[in-house]
Amino acid sequence: MSLLIRNGEIVTAAQRYTADIYCEGETITRIDRNIAAPAGAEVIDATGKYVFPGFIDPHVHIYMEFMGTFAKDTHESASQAALVGGTTTFIEMICPGRTERPLEAFELWLGKAQGKSACDFTFHMGVSRYDAEAERDLREIVKRGVSSFKVFLAYKGALGVTDEELFHALRLARELGVITTAHCENADLVQELQRKFLAEGKTGPEYHYWSRPPRVEAEGVHHLLTFAEILGAHVYIVHTSCGEALREAMRGAGRGARVWVEALIQHLLCDKTDAEKPDFEGAKFIMSPPLREKHNQEALWNGLRQGFVSTLGSDHAPFDFKTQKQMGRGDFTKIPNGIPSLEDRVNLYFTYGVKRGRIDLHQFVNTASTQTAKIFGLFPRKGAIQPGSDADLVVYDPAYSGIISAATQRMNVDYNAFEGMPIEGRPHVVTVRGKVAARDGKFVGEADRGQFLRREPNHF
Ligand code: URP
Ligand code: ZN
Ligand code: ZN
Repeated sequence: MSLLIRNGEIVTAAQRYTADIYCEGETITRIDRNIAAPAGAEVIDATGKYVFPGFIDPHVHIYMEFMGTFAKDTHESASQAALVGGTTTFIEMICPGRTERPLEAFELWLGKAQGKSACDFTFHMGVSRYDAEAERDLREIVKRGVSSFKVFLAYKGALGVTDEELFHALRLARELGVITTAHCENADLVQELQRKFLAEGKTGPEYHYWSRPPRVEAEGVHHLLTFAEILGAHVYIVHTSCGEALREAMRGAGRGARVWVEALIQHLLCDKTDAEKPDFEGAKFIMSPPLREKHNQEALWNGLRQGFVSTLGSDHAPFDFKTQKQMGRGDFTKIPNGIPSLEDRVNLYFTYGVKRGRIDLHQFVNTASTQTAKIFGLFPRKGAIQPGSDADLVVYDPAYSGIISAATQRMNVDYNAFEGMPIEGRPHVVTVRGKVAARDGKFVGEADRGQFLRREPNHF
């Protein structure tokens, strides 16, 4: 099995040049001008197109029991949606409940994905309790190839950890050389504000924002960094939504904290007014941290451009509008939190980032692929175009124009928060380890080809 991608403009985090890429089996073996096609090789003409390394989504939820319901996608639907949109690897959050054994949760999640995913995958291991048994399990899970943890400072009584648990999770992470990803919002503040608004009869989706204002998130970031600095642990702040939280992270970095920051496409392109739409339409836009006032978008774009923000994720969390989001009619605290965007992350980021001149092509590749691979121990197998790397390639057509619509998406959810938004670019061909998996908006690969990617600790 060999594949030749001809005459594309190769764009990586650091380079831009025109060449052919030859892949044997699952690997890139040669990059050169005018490579002759060996007999039997599949040839793809990439003239006029960019060739990017496969995009990596650092933050998705696929199998997830959450707020009294389950996220809608399966690994089959999610991975095919990812591939059509140019994402060839995702990192899924394992989110066990507080009474579940971590090892059982790991095996459950792995079993859900293995043989069902068309793209490659790995996990962040959620720590939702900490005791001797949990610690034993976490050590074992790291040995099995998961080198990142996830903690929630929010979602009190469900996924959230106490300060004591946070301390021990970060202590273990430091000992094992594992990075800890964290949802930063002060859970007690959120709970008390929720109670206050409900007691005042303020029950609509628009009050979700007021129950989690920017300071609540910034306090969460400060809180996490206090623990991380004392313990010397490496941390990664997921879904940073606003300037206030970003500045708090940067202050921590200035003090010497080992901190990385993730932004989401939702916070870059949607804002607080979306969640205020009448007739409960706002529920489509409920996620945590909430969509913010528009001026925050500039802070996040600037962070991505300047490198203060390391990665761009989707935090894909699909809940149907017609059924699941309705659980929160009359009580905004019961609206399942999440805005699906796995399929559209790359095209939206290219259109509203690169095409609008907010980031250059290299920062685009860096934040949507390469840097994620580096932070989470996948580089240079993933996130790179060089001999020896996996042949995960996105031949990208910058001349394509289209409109985002739930009617044509592969994600298994009944709405799209970006409905009607134009996109100016999309993948022409997407390969996973040397085989074509998507072509011009259609999945054409093998449904079970995705592999679990083992990641070693101590890579940073
Ligand atoms: O609202 C969100 N972000 N839903 C998914 C769960 C989480 O907090 O990441
Ligand atoms: Zn979160
Ligand atoms: Zn999430």
